[in-house]
Parts: sequence; structure tokens; C-alpha cells
Amino acid sequence: MAVQINPSILSADFARLAEEAKAVQGADWLHVDVMDNHFVPNLTLGVPVVESLARATDTPLDCHLMIEDPDRWAPQYVEAGASSVTFHVEAAAAPVRLAREIRAKGARASMALKPATPIEPFEDLLPELDMLLIMTVEPGFGGQAFLDIMLPKIRRTRELIGKHGLQLWLQVDGGVSASTIERCADAGADVFVAGSAVYGAQDPAEAVRALRAQAEAATAKASWACDH
Ligand code: DX5
Ligand code: ZN
Repeated sequence: MAVQINPSILSADFARLAEEAKAVQGADWLHVDVMDNHFVPNLTLGVPVVESLARATDTPLDCHLMIEDPDRWAPQYVEAGASSVTFHVEAAAAPVRLAREIRAKGARASMALKPATPIEPFEDLLPELDMLLIMTVEPGFGGQAFLDIMLPKIRRTRELIGKHGLQLWLQVDGGVSASTIERCADAGADVFVAGSAVYGAQDPAEAVRALRAQAEAATAKASWACDH
């Protein structure tokens, strides 16, 4: 699986979202952080903004729902135009039913784990998912320091993907930058969310290219990728 770079618009100018989407041409997906001020202590945007953004850009939208009751709300984000919808397992009442509903509506289904949530209890659910998101900061804010202690969880998840022969994408989100992306790729991540490292750069499109080159080089050397 090729490396994918998903800039997070959390670090973009919310008054100019259409232009900010264009500023990262060449990105694989736009990462859209939805926060409800309950699941996380921050509030961002909801369905109407996702609907408008989907109309304003050709880049597919990767919606990361940091909200309570995703069972109720996630399907609306598919209808709003998201091509991938991520819910948090800590908030979902029925993750299997929800993943199936997201897929049935035509989007990729993805499940996120906060830093203190282990992967092991969810091994049997992995075939129900198109992507697993391992948070590498506590969700809620951009610009936080990468949590190195998540690297073993990324490695163990990559092993589970190999063990079951799954096509699951493994996304990392939080503190991903030029100084941390290689460690993530080496541990087994293949989809990289970067907010401040892209939108804080002088040239966001160039930052995407540079991060991709770093991740590709690290993946080429990684033992998990060489085994295939
Ligand atoms: C944090 C969000 C991230 C955030 C990452 O809760 O889920 O997507 O935008 O921002 P950086 O890359 O700055 O850590
Ligand atoms: Zn996110």
C-alpha cells in the first residue's frame, strides 16, 4: 500500500477553507476534525461545513469524528459527502453495526483509538473496517507533541493486519511532522495526518511532498513492508 498524506484542516484558516483545500493539492485526502465539546474539550464544525467543503474541493474528505453518539451522527457525514468516516470506539455503542452502516452508505469505515485504548480487544473487528486510526496525541487540539509511547501499539496493529492478511489502512494522527513521520512509517503506519506541520509551513503543498518523501523512504526500509 502506498503512503498517503492527509493534511488536517484544523490548522487551516476556517474563514478560507476552500482556498486552504486548494493549497494542499497533491494531498491524498483532506482530514476534517469534527469536535463536539463533549467527547473532547473543543468545538469545530459539523455537517453543513462538510457539505460545503465537499462541493468546494475534488480532494476526498476523511472525516474524523471526535463526538459522542457517533452511532447517531456518523451516517450524516457520509450523506454530506465524506468518502471516509472515522468514529471513536470509546464513544460508539455498536461499532460493528456502525461500520457496516457507513460502508453500506458508500464510504470507507474507520475506527479510532485514543492513546489509552488498546488494540487487542478489537482484533476480531478489524475485517469490518477499511482503516484504523491510532491517535498519537490526546484528541482535541492541533499542535501537540507526538506521543512516542504509541509506537509499540502501531507495531502490534501492523502485526495483526499481517496476521489476518487484511487490506486495512493504518492511520496516525497527532504530532506527525518531519521529525516524527519516519518513526511512524517504520512502526507500520501508512496514512499520515499532519495539521500544523502542513498548514504551519510556508508552502503547504511542498510540506506534503516532503512528508511523503520521508515516509516513503522510511517505509522502503521498514521490516514490516519488506516481508511482503
Ligand atoms: C487532534 C486532531 C488532529 C490534529 C492534528 O485531535 O485529531 O487531526 O489536527 O494536528 P497536528 O498535526 O498539529 O498534531
Ligand atoms: Zn484528526
